Amino acid sequence: MEQKMIYLDRNENNYGPAPKCFEVLKNADLTKLSYYTRAHEKGFKSILTERLASDLNVSREQILLGYGAEDLLKQAVQCFLSEGKNIMIPSYSWWYYKELASEANGSNIEYPIVVGEDTFYYDVDKMLQMYEQEKPEMVLISSPNNPTGNSLANEDLFSILKKMRETVVILDQAYLSYSNPINIAQVIKENPNLIVIRTFSKYYALAGMRIGYAVVGENLSALSTLMNRYLGYHRLSENIAIAALDSADYYANIYDRMKEDKELYFNELAQLPGFNPYKSDANFMLVKIPKEIMTDLNTFLKNKGLVIKFMNEPVLNSHLRITIGTREENKMVIEAIKEFHKK
Ligand SMILES: Cc1ncc(COP(=O)(O)O)c(C=O)c1O
Repeated sequence: MEQKMIYLDRNENNYGPAPKCFEVLKNADLTKLSYYTRAHEKGFKSILTERLASDLNVSREQILLGYGAEDLLKQAVQCFLSEGKNIMIPSYSWWYYKELASEANGSNIEYPIVVGEDTFYYDVDKMLQMYEQEKPEMVLISSPNNPTGNSLANEDLFSILKKMRETVVILDQAYLSYSNPINIAQVIKENPNLIVIRTFSKYYALAGMRIGYAVVGENLSALSTLMNRYLGYHRLSENIAIAALDSADYYANIYDRMKEDKELYFNELAQLPGFNPYKSDANFMLVKIPKEIMTDLNTFLKNKGLVIKFMNEPVLNSHLRITIGTREENKMVIEAIKEFHKK
């Protein structure tokens, strides 16, 4: 029989979506699938846009729905990056950031994320210096950042945004709910060229639904026009996303467990010679390990049905990125790594 693999390599949430999300599917009125939404007759774009606008205290025009954060990032860069111009992206970042500019015939400038003893951090001064020198057309900030797991303190974020007010800035908050909240209504009001991108993929365990949203500043109507869906959005996924938003207790409980498990990972792995885990504000943790054990450890874990990400990038090539799974899965990973180490 084929071995069942446990996937902890793509920052998904293995606890799965809240029961209310499944109820939406079970009780779905399937006749609705034949029809476009009639939300516009009530004067709004979509039920999810309406819900998010009310929760976040912004206008419905400022909310854009997309096929995950990936789609929103792509559309934003396609919309605002001109051919031959630059976008500033973090040095260590989600691999897809590096593709975005070239898809729009522009190029990247990488600003530094610096490695400390047990955490990565943004070098805010260097970043601002680079911004002044390079005068990029766009800037991409990720907080918390993938794969390093660090986030920007709110005061740093606000001072960066203040300096970059005239530039289109994308703030990717795919992992926000594991980190420090911001008053988005106020931030977006003060920064008319800001696009904040969020997703239901991670915290809400709905990666397979492909649904995310952006909140956009008032100067960015070009993006709203580009992404306008006259015939509405996906009716089922909107309802499932709303059910997730209605399940705060379910997700808060998972969050608490993951927080405890991150500490467990950190404390256990820090004890292994040559292992250096980094503190993370997201649902994953980056760990530096001796380069010479990368291949063997990967094989050892795979043989036990455990798939974690072995980084293979020029700047991060002796690191693991472990997605925080369920408690049982996390214990299995820790035990397996310790067992490998004892050999
Ligand atoms: C930083 C970051 N942004 C966005 C995404 C994509 O999210 P979505 O599933 O909403 O497209 C990922 C996926 O791993 C990510 O790491």
